[in-house]
Amino acid sequence: MDALRIRGGRGKPLNGRVRISGAKNAALPILCATLLSDGASRLRNVPRLRDIETTSALLRFLGRDVTVNAPEVHVAAGSDVRPEAPYELVKQMRASVLVLGPLVARFGRAKVSLPGGCAIGARPIDQHLKGLEALGCSIRLERGYVLAEGPGGGGRLKGAEIMFDVPTVGGTENLMMAAALAKGRSTLVNCAREPEVEELGRILNKMGAEVNGAGTDVIHIVGADRGELAPFDHAIIPDRIEAGTYMIAAAMTEGGDVLVEGAELHDLEVLAMKLRSAGVEIESEGHNIRVRRLGELRGVNITTAPHPGFPTDMQAQFLALMATARGESVISETIFENRFMHVPELQRMGASVALRGNTAVVQGVSRLYGAAVMATDLRASASLVIAGIVADEETEVRRIYHLDRGYERIEEKLQGLGVDVERVKGAEA
Ligand code: EPZ
Repeated sequence: MDALRIRGGRGKPLNGRVRISGAKNAALPILCATLLSDGASRLRNVPRLRDIETTSALLRFLGRDVTVNAPEVHVAAGSDVRPEAPYELVKQMRASVLVLGPLVARFGRAKVSLPGGCAIGARPIDQHLKGLEALGCSIRLERGYVLAEGPGGGGRLKGAEIMFDVPTVGGTENLMMAAALAKGRSTLVNCAREPEVEELGRILNKMGAEVNGAGTDVIHIVGADRGELAPFDHAIIPDRIEAGTYMIAAAMTEGGDVLVEGAELHDLEVLAMKLRSAGVEIESEGHNIRVRRLGELRGVNITTAPHPGFPTDMQAQFLALMATARGESVISETIFENRFMHVPELQRMGASVALRGNTAVVQGVSRLYGAAVMATDLRASASLVIAGIVADEETEVRRIYHLDRGYERIEEKLQGLGVDVERVKGAEA
């Protein structure tokens, strides 16, 4: 397994420019949406990530012709369709469950492995299944699989009113894709409002469905009547979580001055507010964000929440930043039940954090110490890298396959900002 070895440049500020890649969490549902059409679709600005490869492998298994030539991915119908997503593929990436809605809407049936939990929580899909049943699907759970069938043994889904008990990104996306081919109107209420959901709405409209309100909590959809949607050609929006991660890295070092290129501040307003409260200067410069840290960092409290609240995918990175801020900060995680696995690793680097249920109380310390640390999930890994940037001596972040799922060319991008970092092949696990 690979590792990242970072020689902390205590006091050495991050300087330079970093270009943001396309959004992983937009590309994944959009790749699944290609199942709604047999035409040849082209995705542009797609990041070169393990999750993109995994989704492409799943689409090939389902019978699609997929060519990945980052930053482009081409998808077209293959010889036949096998509406089945096996455990071996789904267990690699939970977002594979996003093929469920398109498959049952287009082909009348689907057999998709239950994704199971992951390091950060149980990650149930009850809302996905409840919504599909509202559209007329019969759902059976059998030996770890979801067996879904359209009305009357594989018929066409029917538009319905769907109310989510919790705002779920994947649930909203799955049901948007299913409703896009259901007969008549559907209204989805209490939807997730993330920019990636809004982007999927744009795609479905490009494909000929009628979607209004994507990005708000109520989405109205009129399903297309011709049995399939049209192919599309689309450039994916930038990755706001990647952008926020580099903004936090820039704020980590006194004197940091970084231009985050190709990022939109309006998708990162809450993070920008919190960074400004901590004493960091954030300016929008066209389609770029300038981050400058001129003085001392102040402790700031955050509570994660569905968009437009503070993103849970930025919590671990922000906690690493608070580890060296002056004073106390209280970090509350309200979305996932086990998303503090970066804390024990940061404590080994000298961070002072007290965990109480879904809250971490951080007392800023003057310095962190390099150590060998273990990545456990994508964003926890990023927080360890960020801590390593300012820690004394050397930090080795192991099992960085987690990082490779969501951060394209991370060592190159960090080197471009002056970080002394290298990838170590085959480091001990
Ligand atoms: C998406 O996951 C993202 N992944 C996650 O990013 C992100 O952390 C999460 O949204 C929240 O913003 C992708 O977009 C591929 P949810 P998703 O359904 O859709 C509960 C990353 O780091 N819930 O919005 O799986 C669930 O337990 C990843 O890039 C139900 O109870 O998240 C959680 O508490 C990690 N029943 C909350 O909703 C359901 O049927 C939000 O989960 C579905 C979800």
